[in-house]
Amino acid sequence: MTVSPDRVRRRANTEALAEAAAAQIEALAAEATGRSGRFSIAFAGGSTPRELYAQLAKRNRCNWSSWWIAVGDERVVPSDHPESNAGMVCTTLLDRVGIPVNRRILPPVDESLTQAEIADRYDQSIRSLLAESDGAFDLVLLGLGADGHTASLFPGDTRCLTEMRRTVCAAQAPPEASVRERITLTYPVLLNARAIIFLVAGAGKRAVIGELLAGRGSRTAYPASRFVPNSRTYWYLDSQAAAGLPIAD
Ligand code: 6PG
Repeated sequence: MTVSPDRVRRRANTEALAEAAAAQIEALAAEATGRSGRFSIAFAGGSTPRELYAQLAKRNRCNWSSWWIAVGDERVVPSDHPESNAGMVCTTLLDRVGIPVNRRILPPVDESLTQAEIADRYDQSIRSLLAESDGAFDLVLLGLGADGHTASLFPGDTRCLTEMRRTVCAAQAPPEASVRERITLTYPVLLNARAIIFLVAGAGKRAVIGELLAGRGSRTAYPASRFVPNSRTYWYLDSQAAAGLPIAD
C-alpha cells in the first residue's frame, strides 16, 4: 500500500467512523487554537459527513469561538435546497453550536449571480480567510466519489484540475449528477492544508479506495489520487469501503 498504515483508520460503521474522526478534529482544533488563536476548516459536502457533523455538535467539546468555516465545494443551488452543502453543514452543525454568520465563509449562491460570478466572489473570500490563517486551512475535510472525484474536482474537468492560481473555480459535475453546476476549492488550497481528512463509507467506494491507497489510477482518472501519498492526509474508512484492504483495525 502506498499510504502509510498509520494514516488509514477503519471503523465498523459510520457512527464509529464519525466518532473517531470527531476526536481527531477536536484535537486538531485545540492545537490550532492554542497555536494561533483560531481554527480554519473547510467542510466536505455530500452525505457521508452528515453523521460526523452531528457527532461534533452532540459532543460539543470544541472552543467554537475560534472556528472559521468554509466549504470545500458547493452545488450552485440556494442554501435551503436539499442539495446545498452549505445548508447541510449549517443545519447539522453550525446552527446547533451557534457559529456566528461572520465566521461562516460560505459561497454567495444567489440567483442574481452567474456560476462564474459566485466562483469569483468566493475566490476573494477564501483568499481573505487564508490571509488570516497564515496562508492555509488548518484542516480540510474531503469525501470521495466512486469515480475518484473529491470536492468538485471531477475526472476530465481539465480546467479545474490544472488550476494552480485561483483558490476557487467553477466546475461541471458529470451528467449523472443531480446538480451539475458546482464551485470548488482548487488543488493549491486543498493540498496546502495543514491536515486533510478523507471520510469514505459504503461498498460503492471499495474499488476506488483500493486503487487509490495502492497508488494506482492516474491523476486525471482519479482526482483524489493527488492526495496519495501525502503525510498530512488521513483516511477514515468504514468496514464496507475498507473490505479486503490490508488495514489493521
Ligand atoms: C459533493 C461533495 C463530493 C462528495 C463525494 C462523496 O458536493 O458532492 O463534495 O465530493 O464528498 O461525492 O459523496 P457522498 O458522501 O454522498 O458519497
